[in-house]
Amino acid sequence: MSTARANSNIAFIKYWGNADDHLRLPANPSLSMNLDGLHTETTVSWDEDAKADELTLNGERAEGRALKRVSEHLDALRARLNIRGYARVVSTNNFPMGAGIASSASAFAALTVAAVHAAGLSLSERELTTLARLGSGSAARSIPTGFVEWHVGRSHEESFAESIAPPDYWDLVDVIAIVSGAHKAVTSQEGHQTANTSELQGVRVTGAEQRLAVCKAALLARDFEQFAEVVERDSNLMHAVMMTSRPPLFYWLPATLAVMDQVRRWRDEGLRVCYTLDAGPNVHCICVRSDAERVSKGLQSMSGVSDVRVSAAGGPTRIVA
Ligand code: PMV
Repeated sequence: MSTARANSNIAFIKYWGNADDHLRLPANPSLSMNLDGLHTETTVSWDEDAKADELTLNGERAEGRALKRVSEHLDALRARLNIRGYARVVSTNNFPMGAGIASSASAFAALTVAAVHAAGLSLSERELTTLARLGSGSAARSIPTGFVEWHVGRSHEESFAESIAPPDYWDLVDVIAIVSGAHKAVTSQEGHQTANTSELQGVRVTGAEQRLAVCKAALLARDFEQFAEVVERDSNLMHAVMMTSRPPLFYWLPATLAVMDQVRRWRDEGLRVCYTLDAGPNVHCICVRSDAERVSKGLQSMSGVSDVRVSAAGGPTRIVA
């Protein structure tokens, strides 16, 4: 029996759409920061005599879609690593699921690392990222520490994630404006499959490598101005693809737009803050530590913002028991 704890992550350069749906090879490379303290903790025990996989999620026995997705990931691990038997999986999140704080990233990172460790196997970090990717693409980025790049790759082995800088490299903080805690109607898994129905996806993918290079250079140089420009542009591009897909995906709520607008105004006033959004309405306001308090207070006083979560750059997925 093993327990792993994985942080969620927020992408600065987004993953949206697959080159290969089955292997979850992404259409473009991506870059993210792990989110300290927003985590999933998962315990796995393998049982050769069990009749099926079992999942307990946040204290309740899960069936249906959640169990199916976990079981399919366990099938992939069983097949690739020759593991026998079924698994008992107990998993808890300490943040709301399905609302733009990537719960699938931390969930599949923790599940993969706990399942491999519980089977008595010892794999490299790189291999663990490729296996986590099969469960949820962004999960690959929650395994290494700090700031993480996920390479596209043309095969299972080549599509891995690695750290480009430790968490303390740059004191960035994600101040998350929660505008809705509701579970999103369309999962990112479904969204990836319709990305190509937007005429804009090709353009977004073509420019992604360059945006990633600019973002990575800005991050390594701790150049907030460059960083803010490319992070907001990349998020806007992904949402433009979502809104122009068939069927269209609109994740923004009125409060989402109000926060985005406020962030731009704060930046004009000299605060080092920019926004990025995942597949949900909550706004991740990325700022330098010295401006985080003002951003957080300002967000709390906005109508439509129901909660504010603050998270610094986080470490890697760890075995904790
Ligand atoms: O890992 P998935 O399939 O949940 O996809 C994540 C997609 C985004 O969160 C919208 C972007 C990203 O790169 O994390």
